[in-house]
Order: sequence, then C-alpha cells, then structure tokens
Amino acid sequence: MSVLSLDLFLREQREELKQQLPRYLSTMKAPEVLVQSMLYSLEAGGKRLRPALLLATLQGYGIRLEKGYDVACAVEMIHTYSLIHDDLPAMDDDDTRRGKPTNHKIFGEAMAILAGDALLTYSFEIISRSKNLNDQEKVRVIQLLASASGPTGMVGGQVADMEGENKVDLTVGELEYIHQHKTGDLLAFSIEAAAVLANAPEKDQIHLRHFAKHLGLAFQIKDDILDIEGDGDKMGKPIGSDEENQKSTYPKLLGLDGAKEKLVYHIQSAKDHLSKVNQKHVLLEELTDYIASRTY
Ligand code: IPE
Ligand code: IPE
Ligand code: MG
Ligand code: MG
Ligand code: MG
Repeated sequence: MSVLSLDLFLREQREELKQQLPRYLSTMKAPEVLVQSMLYSLEAGGKRLRPALLLATLQGYGIRLEKGYDVACAVEMIHTYSLIHDDLPAMDDDDTRRGKPTNHKIFGEAMAILAGDALLTYSFEIISRSKNLNDQEKVRVIQLLASASGPTGMVGGQVADMEGENKVDLTVGELEYIHQHKTGDLLAFSIEAAAVLANAPEKDQIHLRHFAKHLGLAFQIKDDILDIEGDGDKMGKPIGSDEENQKSTYPKLLGLDGAKEKLVYHIQSAKDHLSKVNQKHVLLEELTDYIASRTY
C-alpha cells in the first residue's frame, strides 16, 4: 500500500467521523448550550488520529470498520474533552485549538469544564449502547478506555505534567511517565481495543501493545518538537506554549537534536514490534511514518 492510499484512508475516515460524531448529539435531551459547546470542539476538526489507528488496526485484521465506529467516536470524544480541559486557564491557558478560539473563550470556563465532563461520560454511554459489540466486548473495551483515560492513564499524566512545570531536575524516566500517560495511553488504547474487537491472537496483542507504547511516546515527542519549530497556523494551536508554561519536554531536557534522536528511536522500536505481529499491518506501518514526519 502506498502513502497515497494512507492519505485516502485518512481522508475517508475523517469524512466518516465528520458525519457520525454530530449524530450522537443530535437527539440528545440536554441543555442546548451544553450540546453547542460539545459540538463546537468536536466539529472543529483535528486529525482524528485515534479513530484512524483503531480503524486501521481493524482493517489489518479484515474486520468490517462498522464494528469499530462507536468506539472510534467514543475515544475521539474523550480526546476532545482532554483538549478542552488542557486549554483552560488553570492548565495550559491557550487561546486557540483546532484553528478556532478555545472552548472557554467562546462558552466561558464553567461551560467548557462541563462540556468536557459531558463528552467524557457520554463516550462510555455510547459504547455501552453500541449495537455492533457483544456484552463481553463492551465490558473489555470500557475497562481499557477507563484505564487509559483515568488516574492511571491520561488524567494521571496530566497531573504529572502540571507538577513537572518549572521543575529543573526531572529525569528522562519521569518525563517518559508524563508523555506515556498524558498522551500515549489514549493512542495505545485505540490499537489495543481494535485488537480485542478483532479477537487477535494473544501474541499479536502483546506485540501490538509494545508497538502502541512506542508510537504513543513518539507522538508526544513530536508534539513537543512542533511546539518549537512548527507552524502555529497550520497546527491550529499556538506554538511556544510549553516554553511559556515552563513545561518539562523532551527538547527542554535533551535539546532539540536529542529530542529528535529519541523520536527516531521510538519510531524504530515501534516498527520493530509491529514487524513481529503475525498479521501484516500495512496501514499501521504507514501511520507510523506519518506520525514521525507530520508537520501539524
Ligand atoms: C494534541 O493531540 C494533544 C496531544 C495529546 C499531544 P492531536 O495532535 O491528536 O490533536 P488533534 O486531535 O489533531 O486536534
Ligand atoms: C496534551 O499535551 C495532552 C492532553 C490533552 C491530554 P499538550 O498540552 O502538549 O497538548 P497541546 O500541545 O496543548 O495540544
Ligand atoms: Mg498540556
Ligand atoms: Mg496544551
Ligand atoms: Mg503540546
């Protein structure tokens, strides 16, 4: 498969998500302003990378993609909630996201917090109601998503990220903890959940888990690098935010070149583990290169 077909896959799945995401909210009996605030951030766009990883893994196993759409939309909702909260004045205090003013700039802080809460909770409702999964699959996926999002996952990572601000003596191990959890875990969930839905052999699931861990770390290292040398207009979010908040990042700890070396290391490690998976996953291979070379 060529890069061209990865491009087509990404475009098709983004289009699919664009159609599907608002559908979940269209019949919701909830205060209008809350629904508007949720939709505002969901529809702002974004790369939809977590859904893409989930759907690409399913495709690799020859499973029909319909089976994964509810879970793909659920993880995108949790990711979107994490961004809304990440941008709040009490956290990174950023003014733009996905090319638009941040949620709290439009709806106010209270509504932004509540829209995040609503997206988080609703994502689990979506999975529990899914017509494409059996009860056993639902419980397993809900369990994986809760661990990836909660205190042992994304929220724990965000806490470590906040505590790491202004810290000068952070070790690479501590930094890895932050990156693994605040960002890596939700990306890894997308791959792991798909392996569960595909009923992949146990050995494949183990290698995919290692693959996903390196991929998730690589993704956040690249995010740190782009915060320095990226194009804010292209990324739809401000650059220089890490420096302003005195964040602990790979470039800060290891220098820009050191961070780039770590990126190469984790991309290569990810590929090594992927090559041990019995089932060939061409789309995941292509997505790994895409993550390394992305410019937004
Ligand atoms: C940004 O994630 C926040 C991180 C976890 C690094 P993405 O770069 O995937 O953001 P969107 O979804 O494309 O907006
Ligand atoms: C965000 O990390 C991680 C989560 C939102 C959970 P960053 O703070 O680096 O993400 P950006 O750069 O604002 O997108
Ligand atoms: Mg942050
Ligand atoms: Mg941020
Ligand atoms: Mg960042």
